Amino acid sequence: MANNNMAVFLDRDGTIIEDRGDLASPADIVFLPDAAEALAKLQEHFKLFIVTNQTGIATGAITAEQAMAVSEAVVAFLVRAGARIERVFTCPHRKEENCVCRKPSPYFLRCAAEEYGLDLTRSYMIGDHPHDVACIEQVGGHGVYVCTGHGSKHLAELPLGKIALPSIVEAVDWILATAVPGYCCKEDIDAAARIIAAGGIVAFPTETVYGLGADAFNAEAVARIFAAKGRPYFDPLIVHIASPDWLPLLTTDVPPAAQRLAERFWPGPLTLVLPKQGRVPDIVTAGLPSVALRIPRHPVAQALLHRCSTPLAAPSANRFGSISPTIPQHVVAELSDRVDFILDSGPCPLGVESTVISFVEGDPLLLRPGGTPLEEIEAVIGQVRLPDGAETQPAAPGMLPRHYAPRTLLVFGDVSPADCQGRVGLLAFTTPPADAGFAAVEVLSPSGRLEEAAANLYGALRRLDALGLTMIVAQPLPEYGLGRAINDRLRRASSSQPTRL
Ligand code: TXA
Ligand code: MG
Repeated sequence: MANNNMAVFLDRDGTIIEDRGDLASPADIVFLPDAAEALAKLQEHFKLFIVTNQTGIATGAITAEQAMAVSEAVVAFLVRAGARIERVFTCPHRKEENCVCRKPSPYFLRCAAEEYGLDLTRSYMIGDHPHDVACIEQVGGHGVYVCTGHGSKHLAELPLGKIALPSIVEAVDWILATAVPGYCCKEDIDAAARIIAAGGIVAFPTETVYGLGADAFNAEAVARIFAAKGRPYFDPLIVHIASPDWLPLLTTDVPPAAQRLAERFWPGPLTLVLPKQGRVPDIVTAGLPSVALRIPRHPVAQALLHRCSTPLAAPSANRFGSISPTIPQHVVAELSDRVDFILDSGPCPLGVESTVISFVEGDPLLLRPGGTPLEEIEAVIGQVRLPDGAETQPAAPGMLPRHYAPRTLLVFGDVSPADCQGRVGLLAFTTPPADAGFAAVEVLSPSGRLEEAAANLYGALRRLDALGLTMIVAQPLPEYGLGRAINDRLRRASSSQPTRL
């Protein structure tokens, strides 16, 4: 996920820490509020560098060692908060000393670009001086001015049309919103959390598919999810939590095997069905004595859960029985007038739902293959039972025979269009022969990668469904890893339909 060639250069004094001039000792460092947490959000997408002018070294006010000790302490603090700094560049010269480090030459930026293979045109500088902005713009990058430190004093000198923000917190959000497609800003997450607190329902991204969430402890709000989806009340919902600390709110017992899976795969696409706590509303669990729990990995889902401070009951954000949404436009198409808010964060990276494992009756039981491959689960806890005749099993109501289905008739198998009537579309794993005779073809992964196939599955199904075909033929994928989950969805998408061959 991390994009290796984008960087954010950070001024130190006045941008990350208070500018008290010629800091000589780590004891004198005062971090600006929330600076470290904000920078941690950049980590996933950018390499981070500190660029600092320490003219006090030239004037003799501090030694180079003292300046370095302060920078090292700043870096250590940021690392602890999750923001790794690749390198600190320090200019020890006075303004008058026409050195290579300072204006007019963005010397350090070029050094970093060369050493770390950076694309400076996709890189940013955050600083509290107009010089910081000018410096990165000279090499085609983007300057973000902050009004902390000397920022408000020099604001008038900042050329018109430049971005000036209150602090590094807003600067980080602005950079993420500009550079990262689908990034959700803090305001949207706050708005979504307010709606959830007021009993509303919000579509939000997870690493698997978009979910439609409500406060799991608000039965009325959860009822609105069922109404919006047209979902029958006998089909229980997955409850999403932010951390394992929340487990005691929802479950009375986490068996050791479940514990091991949680440690290995959370946050991630794995749902554990465990005995429920009394206070979990019956509507969430369809009256079952168990509750399905998962910690999503997607940063927006994580941010929303933390902001809400309450578990979110959330099925996939589609009409009942239809194809799960992997981009916000899918949610808009099916539910736009039925949800209170859609947190738009671009495509879901994984594209198929979580694997569901039940720990309620005896040995672990696979209720739904999904984003965490069964092989990896069995490597941690040993053999998992597979449902026998689960198609009709009431204990796993979500495993309804017909689910995840397009409107067009779908046949799952290696079928030739010559054996079918009408216009036939193909959902292929890899590129089929050119003369196969299908009216339309969607290829899930030209290179035969299951991860790519999973990410493309629901989008491809929707596109074929929109073509008014007589029939869609879906080819089976290899029955391992994510292939098992994809085949399961295709089998269900085809189930209960007349086979017109
Ligand atoms: O990846 C996912 O799991 C997505 C995202 C939004 O997290 N969610 C999702 O939820 O796919 P949903 O509601 O579409 O599927 C939930 C599945 C259903 O098969 C449901 O029957 C099963 O989990 N489930 C929930 N609670 C259960 C319970 N107490 N016992 C057995 N199965 C349960
Ligand atoms: Mg669903």
